[in-house]
Amino acid sequence: MPSDHLFELIKKGRNFMKFVERDEMGDEDTDQNLKLTQPPLTKSAMTTNFIDLPNNFNQLPIENDFLKVINKRESHRVYSKMDMSLLELSYLLWTTQGVKSVRGNNYATLRTVPSGGARHGFETYLVVNNITSLKPGIYHYLPLSHQIEYLQENVTPEILTNALLGQSWGVHANVIFFWSIIPYRCEWRYSIYSHRIALVDIGYVSQNLYLASESIGLGTCAIGAYEQAICDNLFQLDGEDEFIILCSPVGTIKKEDKEKELAFYAFLKENE
Ligand SMILES: Cc1cc2nc3c(=O)[nH]c(=O)nc-3n(C[C@H](O)[C@H](O)[C@H](O)COP(=O)(O)O)c2cc1C
Repeated sequence: MPSDHLFELIKKGRNFMKFVERDEMGDEDTDQNLKLTQPPLTKSAMTTNFIDLPNNFNQLPIENDFLKVINKRESHRVYSKMDMSLLELSYLLWTTQGVKSVRGNNYATLRTVPSGGARHGFETYLVVNNITSLKPGIYHYLPLSHQIEYLQENVTPEILTNALLGQSWGVHANVIFFWSIIPYRCEWRYSIYSHRIALVDIGYVSQNLYLASESIGLGTCAIGAYEQAICDNLFQLDGEDEFIILCSPVGTIKKEDKEKELAFYAFLKENE
């Protein structure tokens, strides 16, 4: 039985998952209805270190049997440390956050993933370990131009392991995706209704990363258990107006590592 204190917190969490009553906002209106300026569709570049991403995806050996991709999808936590190409990275960025068009007069981006009200509150940051033709380091995706910008050199594996709450396997990936949210991009339109929807939105992004990785023979695993403050600091986010909400290492994989993958579930055997 949870204590009263814990039960209160559980109830708070459950209520957060519900669609709140319409009258909870009282007389208050959303910023959009108040005609306040809409926040930018994406975060501006922070540097001028731009790298154009290739989009000749037809050069990739993409598995096009959709059901096969769906059925094969699984979490991968063992990476074989082979090279991963810029085209593969570009494909993963496109399939998770690529902008297909802009709706209205800069009203919304339409992307390869859906988003409640097309708010698309996310930014993508990358910790690059091994992508051919990229120097290792921290990068930021610029979805409107399908470019990345180089932000700074890599942090140590120790810091990264701590950022992933001790899940050191993630550090061996070729690249780690970190998605942040800029909440006001969603709040401007949906106010207190936006947060729950944003969490649903990130699931689509993560699932596209799973499926896209699978379709080109790479492995990934969502990581929801991360150290908030360390991750926010990695990308110099203030933790209030922008903060990390999910991450996902992506790496090359090989069949022979199946046993090592299963070792992550050894605890199941102990309970048999
Ligand atoms: C939102 C989310 C967060 C997750 N966080 C972690 C995590 O922190 N560490 C981890 O090892 N796996 C994590 N996973 C992976 C799940 O453990 C995995 O999806 C589950 O065991 C089912 O296995 P499968 O993906 O191979 O089907 C996460 C998955 C999701 C969708």
